[in-house]
Amino acid sequence: MTKLVVLSNYDELSRACAQVLVRVIRQRPCSVVGLPTGTTPLGMYRELVDAHRRGEVDFSKITAFNLDEYIGLRTAHPASFSAYMEANFWKYIPLDPARRHIPASMPVDPIEECVRYETAIQDAGGLDFTILGLGTNGHIGFNEPGTPWDTTTHVAALTKSTIAYLDWEVREETCPTQAITMGIRTILSSRVLMLIVNGPDKAYILERALAGPTGIDCPASSLQLHPCLLVMVDRSAGRKLMEKTEGVGGHRVVLTSGIEESLADLGIQ
Ligand code: GLP
Repeated sequence: MTKLVVLSNYDELSRACAQVLVRVIRQRPCSVVGLPTGTTPLGMYRELVDAHRRGEVDFSKITAFNLDEYIGLRTAHPASFSAYMEANFWKYIPLDPARRHIPASMPVDPIEECVRYETAIQDAGGLDFTILGLGTNGHIGFNEPGTPWDTTTHVAALTKSTIAYLDWEVREETCPTQAITMGIRTILSSRVLMLIVNGPDKAYILERALAGPTGIDCPASSLQLHPCLLVMVDRSAGRKLMEKTEGVGGHRVVLTSGIEESLADLGIQ
């Protein structure tokens, strides 16, 4: 079942998402978490850093796996997801670098790196709680339209629309064309998933993904197969999906009154 929580604006959304992860970690301090990059989770990371500063959460026992990383960028390149995580989260919280994982951006053998990454996730006990953003073309991680749903961590070619969205022109550099990403099967194997979606530009694709037909043309529609999905949205992103809650296409999206109700249903205290 999918639980939908609608927050009034981006700040509220960011606070609520951070609160959910804090609760997950308090309940299970050694949680294995999957983490996203992109503009959407920036506010959530800020709130998580604040929660750490207030002493509300101890991140030191978690194990973290990022969803994806570009191929071909130095780790220190400011646009790498590794640099993003360092700048927005890791530098503020006490987590041993051995417990934070992200695919290598310049692997000698990319296929081998994918196998190593997938194995590391399994060796850590599998993902307990994974946070996802949503691409405007329906991608999750870097699983672009057309990606088979039985994929584990793999090398992905970025589509033109994703490259255009990522807006590398402002850097006057060429956007990498490939990335290593957790596969759809890897993502769906997470015990709980939290999808965060913000802004009116994502309203159509969110509704298409969760209330439309499932199919590989929309990778995020695979989330309809997950038994424990929490969808956190601001009002503008949730506008179209809210009209379709309570059972569309055999899949139930249930609009909840807030995070307390949804967490209880997902077994999070
Ligand atoms: C990138 C990432 C995704 C992310 C998506 C949306 O492509 N690989 O994991 O969800 O962008 O980004 P944004 O939050 O900036 O809209």
